[in-house]
Amino acid sequence: MTCTLGLDISTTASKALLLGEDGTLLGVSSAPHSLSTPRPLWSEQDPLEWWTATRKAVAGVLTKTGVSPEQISGIGLSGQMHGLVLLDEAGDVLRPAMLWNDQRSGAECDEIREMFGLEDLVRITGNDAFPGFTAPKLLWVRNHEPEVYARVRHVLLPKDYIRWRLTGEHATDRAGAGGTLLLDLATRDWSSRILDGLGIPREWLPATHEGTDVTGRLTDSAATATGLASGTPVVGGGGDQAAQAVGVGATEPDTFALTVGTSGVVFAPSDRPRVDTRGRAHAFPHAVPGRWHLMGVMLSAAGSLQWFRDTLAPGVPFDDLVAEAADCPAGADGVTFLPYLTGERTPHADPLATASFSGLTRGHSRGHLTRAVLEGVAFGLLDNLDLLAQAGLPRPVSLRASGGAMQSPLWRQVLADVLATDLVTVDTTEGAALGAAMLAGVGTGIWANAGEASQACVRTGEVIQPSPETVEVYRGIHQRFRALYPALQAVRN
Ligand code: XUL
Repeated sequence: MTCTLGLDISTTASKALLLGEDGTLLGVSSAPHSLSTPRPLWSEQDPLEWWTATRKAVAGVLTKTGVSPEQISGIGLSGQMHGLVLLDEAGDVLRPAMLWNDQRSGAECDEIREMFGLEDLVRITGNDAFPGFTAPKLLWVRNHEPEVYARVRHVLLPKDYIRWRLTGEHATDRAGAGGTLLLDLATRDWSSRILDGLGIPREWLPATHEGTDVTGRLTDSAATATGLASGTPVVGGGGDQAAQAVGVGATEPDTFALTVGTSGVVFAPSDRPRVDTRGRAHAFPHAVPGRWHLMGVMLSAAGSLQWFRDTLAPGVPFDDLVAEAADCPAGADGVTFLPYLTGERTPHADPLATASFSGLTRGHSRGHLTRAVLEGVAFGLLDNLDLLAQAGLPRPVSLRASGGAMQSPLWRQVLADVLATDLVTVDTTEGAALGAAMLAGVGTGIWANAGEASQACVRTGEVIQPSPETVEVYRGIHQRFRALYPALQAVRN
């Protein structure tokens, strides 16, 4: 049987997934990455470690599945977005990669906004300048490490560093390129206006490709290093959110994706560029050719429950904790949780935002607090859905829902009730790697397009419907939630 290989260079690990031409998931293997946070706001990784981990993950999945390298018709790449990898003339890595969650470049964001004006920046790129994005990080290196900057010859995103190791090509997918703040959203290619304005040479940047385009073929040396077959085509793939959307079947405008993992994402495909004029939502090309997407990203979603458990109920199993929450009514008897434990990105672009519990009395139990956490995350996601609606997108007919939170029946129901939308669960823990493998299947002719690939490969599960009475209760409580962030700004340190 022919199959495709999806590689996801995520923050925590490199993952390799094999997908059969009949849409069956044959196996997954992963190898971890370490993360370095040498100073406050900094978040870095060593690109060489991604390459070592990728080779381990590929070897693992080949062994596990017994698939022979010749059976693999194509490889698709996905990975953490926005990261900055700098190479010199010889291809050596110049400094540790600065990741999507690195927050050091606030001053450079102001510099970019002042240079173009927010309106033009959004008109060209679809986005405001966020410290997580690539361009402000490149300016940070220019401002703070001029000796490094002087040696830069190539700027790559994390997964494209792996692409370069595999194919020798400096290339990227357009969905990932959107997250650099250097792309013209409408033309889906680098913006001369932005590059010239920032003084970034175009030749430093990789060629841009659609997610299903073949961007190069495996070199002999990469074949030796990975155990894969020389000449295997490597397609564009997509940044992790776009690839994840493909992996859950959110390829067309009526189907949104909701991912509630450590972070929380609401992802809306569109058939033309749609933007929030204030740049509060992220507008990038989709990994599907001819499609774009607008998305909201909240930074602490299931990460909030993880923090709560580890800090206030160490050792208590999540199921036990959530069972206590199930005994409390919708609205947690007046307790509200703001989920901004690691600052926030959308709709409040505020790296210094903080979390809080409010409305506590002696009558409240741990169950109330847990319930408030589940609800606070759902309200944060509703804020993002509202943001997309303000940008002119229709409310979704259904949300393809995945991520750790979907394991909990209570949390699933809270999400459906707060978002007032049917949730169609998709049972995948590796949606981005799956999406990358599906894009490789389209690029190498197994499926005609992403829609066909999703018919063949995406397995939907339970549909969670909102309960009309609880939707009404939450509508009122959402007003209280919305009022808290601006109110607390006035008293924060
Ligand atoms: C998307 C984003 C994250 C990272 C890490 O904008 O920042 O999805 O790609 O996974």
